Amino acid sequence: MQLRARVVALAQARDADVFAGKDFRHDWVGARTISWRMLFEDIRDTTSRVLEIGSHEGRSAVFWLEFFAGAHITCVDLFSGDWTERFDRNLAGYGARVRKLAGTSIKSLGILREEKAVFDFIYVDGSHRRDDVMIDCLGAWRLLRDGGVMLMDDYTWMPNNPDAERVAPAVDIFLAWHPEAEVIDKSHQVAVRKRPT
Ligand SMILES: C[S@@+](CC[C@H](N)C(=O)[O-])C[C@H]1O[C@@H](n2cnc3c(N)ncnc32)[C@H](O)[C@@H]1O
Repeated sequence: MQLRARVVALAQARDADVFAGKDFRHDWVGARTISWRMLFEDIRDTTSRVLEIGSHEGRSAVFWLEFFAGAHITCVDLFSGDWTERFDRNLAGYGARVRKLAGTSIKSLGILREEKAVFDFIYVDGSHRRDDVMIDCLGAWRLLRDGGVMLMDDYTWMPNNPDAERVAPAVDIFLAWHPEAEVIDKSHQVAVRKRPT
C-alpha cells in the first residue's frame, strides 16, 4: 500500500474508535482529522480548556475530548433542533468534562467574558454568515490565552456566495486587525496561534 493510503487507513481506524457507539447524521469532521492530528499534536498535553462555537450533534466535540485527553469542553450552540438529543446522547459519557451553553454565540460569549473564562483552544464553527463569524472571532479571541490556538472552519466555503454569506471576508479582516494572530495553517480551515502582545 502507498504511504498516503496507509496514513489515511490508519486515521480512519483511529476515527472509527473515537466515534464508536455514537449517533451522527452529519460528518463535517472526517475529512479534517488527519490534519488536526498533525497540526495540534504539539499542544495535546497543554490543552485542557476547549471552547467550541457550533457543536451540532457533537462530532467535533467528541473528537476534541478524545484527542485532548482530560480536557474540558464548553459547547456553544443554539441547540434548537431535534439533533440536540443526539448531542446529549453522544456527549453523555463525558459527564463533567462537558458544559453546554444554549443560545446565540453572541450571548454565550458575553456570559463567558463575564465569568472571565480563559481557553487554550477554540474552534469557531457556528453561523457561517460574515457578520456572525466576525462577532465569533472577536469574542473568542478575547477568551483565548496567550499561546492558545484558534481554528476557524470553512474559510473556502461557497466562494461564489455574496460576501455577507461567506466566512472568508470576516476571517481576512480578523487577521488584518490582529497581527498577533500567527497563522499556522490556512487551507479550508484557518488555524492561528495567539502571540503575546
Ligand atoms: C456546521 S454545524 C457545527 C458542526 C460541528 N462543529 C461538527 O463538526 O460536528 C454549525 C452549528 O452552528 C450552530 N449555530 C448557527 N448559528 C449560531 C449562532 N448564531 N450561535 C450559536 N450557534 C449557532 C448551528 O445550530 C449548528 O449546530
